[in-house]
Amino acid sequence: MTAVRPKTTTHTLARLRARGEKAVFVTAYDYPTAVFADRAGVDLLLVGDSAAMTMMGLPSTIGITMDEMAVFVKCVCRATPRAFVVGDLPFLSYQISDEDAVRNAGRFIALGCDAVKCEGGARMRGRVRAMVDAGICVMGHLGLTPQNLAQLGGYRVQGKSRAAVGRLMDDALALQEAGAFAILLEALPPEAAAEVRDRLDVPVYGIGAGPHVDGQLVISHDMLGNFVGDIAPRFVKRYATVGTQIEQAFAAYAREVRTGAFPAPEHCYRTDG
Ligand code: KIV
Repeated sequence: MTAVRPKTTTHTLARLRARGEKAVFVTAYDYPTAVFADRAGVDLLLVGDSAAMTMMGLPSTIGITMDEMAVFVKCVCRATPRAFVVGDLPFLSYQISDEDAVRNAGRFIALGCDAVKCEGGARMRGRVRAMVDAGICVMGHLGLTPQNLAQLGGYRVQGKSRAAVGRLMDDALALQEAGAFAILLEALPPEAAAEVRDRLDVPVYGIGAGPHVDGQLVISHDMLGNFVGDIAPRFVKRYATVGTQIEQAFAAYAREVRTGAFPAPEHCYRTDG
């Protein structure tokens, strides 16, 4: 008999960090992908606002709304008896006021998320505290934060200078102090991420932040090979070529429909007589 893996909680994640075991974190936006990831033993699933790009074909994460994110959140939460699900708060769902942040984060929790994620450091400390005070688990997101891409000057590696690492550390400590249960670091040199990880008490996860963190996040479309777009970050490793296989399957189907090879007799219903 196979052992049933219990539901992952913030305690599970803290224990993994304490034991030096890496947490496995991927994005998911739809029911089947979330089912496969949960069955495969993934620890955390992020319903990322990257859905704007991976699922909706938008040029950045900026254009996705709470209502659109809520559909993806609903699909993933229905699929995951074990993985810890993090709902990513989209642009302007939490930047304007504490009330907006609590209401929108609460909506994700009511739909089944275990936590929410928001971008930004010390300037978000009050917002994070407001959500935590409302009983919501909050993951911080530092480094390359796509919701303020213009301020950062585009998709650029962060934390390259000593001064930048100092600011990053202040931001991470501010989020931890505000009650964030974990921090995600994006696009940093491994040394910078390691420094932050070693200074913090909460789990620190990375996407493009090297190996010295408590777990790795990747965008599922990047690792599965079904992202339709031009962005190809250096840190991505491809584990499948799902996009190519889908295209080949559609092409084979089209050929068989056009030549009459499909449907064959075995695909047809029989009469009684
Ligand atoms: O939306 C997302 O997938 C993210 C990751 C890129 C960190 O926020």
